[in-house]
Amino acid sequence: MINLVLFGPPGSGKGTQAHKLVKKYHLIHISTGDLFRHEIGSQTPLGIQAKAFIAKGELVPDEVTIGMLRNKVEAHPGAKGFIFDGFPRTIPQAEALDRLLAEKETAVSGLIALQVDDEEIVKRIKLRGETSGRADDSNESIIRNRIDVYKSETAPVFDYYVQQGKGHSVDGIGSVAQIFERLSAVIDRL
Ligand code: C5P
Ligand code: MG
Repeated sequence: MINLVLFGPPGSGKGTQAHKLVKKYHLIHISTGDLFRHEIGSQTPLGIQAKAFIAKGELVPDEVTIGMLRNKVEAHPGAKGFIFDGFPRTIPQAEALDRLLAEKETAVSGLIALQVDDEEIVKRIKLRGETSGRADDSNESIIRNRIDVYKSETAPVFDYYVQQGKGHSVDGIGSVAQIFERLSAVIDRL
């Protein structure tokens, strides 16, 4: 199996690139943010619980996110592999992912971080907010809070995978096609 973690701050292009990568590598795309938005749209108990955190740009508690992720992975027993987009966001989530994949006798193949600076992120997310309908994309202080949460809680996940020899990063500035080439080059060497 190939199990990729597509990593990087909000607005770094994870979703855009994941949609292209799943076609090329025949993987299952799991975006925890998209799953939450679906649950919120369907007004499920999980969605109602997650909504307040997402609206503020805070993280949903680990146990909630990990349980949702596990269900999604287990819904695809025959998968060739997965692209995890927006997960893991914390060290406990990374540890839970490693345990889950170990149970399936597989592992994370590599984590690839898209590098984009803060001002570019704010610009991109505001632009996305014009059409995404996402409240958390439309308010600059919420966007900046998401960046702060990324730096304090999520960035350590990169070092966690570097310690396993699995951390990679690519320049996330450029055209969608250029960034796709950079990602593919890393994946083809994993
Ligand atoms: O990944 P994405 O940016 O779409 O996530 C949107 C929001 O969903 C995050 O800002 C956060 O509130 C929540 N989220 C989370 N934990 C994750 C993924 C997303 O709390 N692992
Ligand atoms: Mg996304």
